[in-house]
Amino acid sequence: MTLVGPPPLLDSNPFAVLLSDLRDERAATVPFPAGETRFSLARTRRFAAEPLPMLLEAYERFGPVFTLRIFHGNVVFMLGPAANHYVTVSHASNFIWREGHFRDLIGLMGDGLLTIDGDFHRRSRRVMLPAFHQEHLLASTQTMLEEITRAVEQLVPGERVDLYFWTRRLAMRVAMRALFGLNPDGDRARSIDAAALFEQALSYYSSEYLLRIFRGPFTPWARLQTTARKLDELIYSEISHRRASGERGQDILSLLLDAHDEDGNTLSDLQVRDEVMTLLFAGHDTTTSTVSFMFYELASHPEIVARLQAEQADQLTDGQLSASQLVSGELRELEMVLDETLRKYPPAWVGPRRSIEPFEFEGHTVPGRAFVNYSSWASHHLPDVFPEPEEFRPRRFTPEARAALPKGAYVPFGGGSRTCIGMRFGQLEVRAIATLILSRFEFSLPEEFRLEIRQMPTISPKHGLPMLMRSRTGASRGEVAAAA
Ligand code: HEM
Repeated sequence: MTLVGPPPLLDSNPFAVLLSDLRDERAATVPFPAGETRFSLARTRRFAAEPLPMLLEAYERFGPVFTLRIFHGNVVFMLGPAANHYVTVSHASNFIWREGHFRDLIGLMGDGLLTIDGDFHRRSRRVMLPAFHQEHLLASTQTMLEEITRAVEQLVPGERVDLYFWTRRLAMRVAMRALFGLNPDGDRARSIDAAALFEQALSYYSSEYLLRIFRGPFTPWARLQTTARKLDELIYSEISHRRASGERGQDILSLLLDAHDEDGNTLSDLQVRDEVMTLLFAGHDTTTSTVSFMFYELASHPEIVARLQAEQADQLTDGQLSASQLVSGELRELEMVLDETLRKYPPAWVGPRRSIEPFEFEGHTVPGRAFVNYSSWASHHLPDVFPEPEEFRPRRFTPEARAALPKGAYVPFGGGSRTCIGMRFGQLEVRAIATLILSRFEFSLPEEFRLEIRQMPTISPKHGLPMLMRSRTGASRGEVAAAA
């Protein structure tokens, strides 16, 4: 017997799903919040290209709750501290993820933790949580540092590197090894460039809205499916190898293969595959964006880099930083830079949900079965909460300033029962990568480089991040010790 998964989406025919959305909208028993509710392809396109200014403009006009018609349907946006807290914590049980605005992600990830709700979500989370406890994190640090050191040693002083692609490959290798005990250089993985396959698969989510509806040959959906099947080959072959050999380790795959509930129900191969795919995606994509945006900002803030390097000189013992220092985030300057990076560029920028019952928030009604999104990216740019939000100012996150933030103001990892399960893993990885690069290199952006951001479905630099790397002169090269 296997643990019972969620029911399939109402209808897998995309046109039927659109019709069902329209029927739900027409059946609304209370009005939608004010906003732009006429069909407009221009608005839909603009939302796909530059959602942040659009959301901030709408916030100015309509306040923290408003409706925008994106493509065929009304989408309610709820911005700001109180709204974030309402959706993720105080009224989270009135919202589901699975039928929300990003439901197409099920096409890649299936029914992993991100896309499921209710009891199945609670039970799946319980199975996976032990893999993210402190002792597991400490154990992962060894592998993580081996991979990061190896990748940093491949950076050639004096040459230009695309730091975005470099980090993406690195983060995928770390996710494969530390999360799944999968050897990226082994026979099964070597033939597949998983990072590139994910990049291809995720490009579906930045294709034209209209094209995303179509199924059949040569459509973005068909390309997504072809790429997903290649990733499946890798995941299923590892599952069958582990089941046949009984080989287990400290990794999440081992946990999933042996997981069972009190009645002895276990996870099917498909369910294990969906969790693995979800964690591989979530575990490398967000980290990659965070490292990229952090170094983008650092390249134009030499005074912050100087503070970070002074902190390293102060904290490294015999040129070494311990794994437990990394896990606990003891480097205060680095921690503030990380927090500010995730304020200005929270990779998972939108929290897509669907309401179950109608509700009222701050005097506005919202129907049941409405698309409702909270957005960390827009909420982190509200000037009344974060003054001059476009400025990169790590001092916003001194312990005192952080404690003074209203509940729900800062939500780069979401909140409540859906708080990012990989938060500590991701923070640890970004700290480790940043520490090693900062200890060995000076870096700068080409003068002509202009940052453009794409969202697909997480935000990242649209054209990568070309960085000129130079050896640090006159500084002792830092090391990170794998020992705790
Ligand atoms: C800097 C790095 C990361 C950021 C900013 C981030 C952000 C987030 C956010 C905002 C959510 C909640 C989305 C929502 O409310 O709809 C989330 C959920 C999730 N994240 Fe992360 N994440 C990061 C790293 C990771 C890593 C490294 C992993 C895996 C190892 C991971 C796995 C997940 C999973 C499985 C969920 C779904 C949790 C649930 O619904 O129970 N994330 N993440």
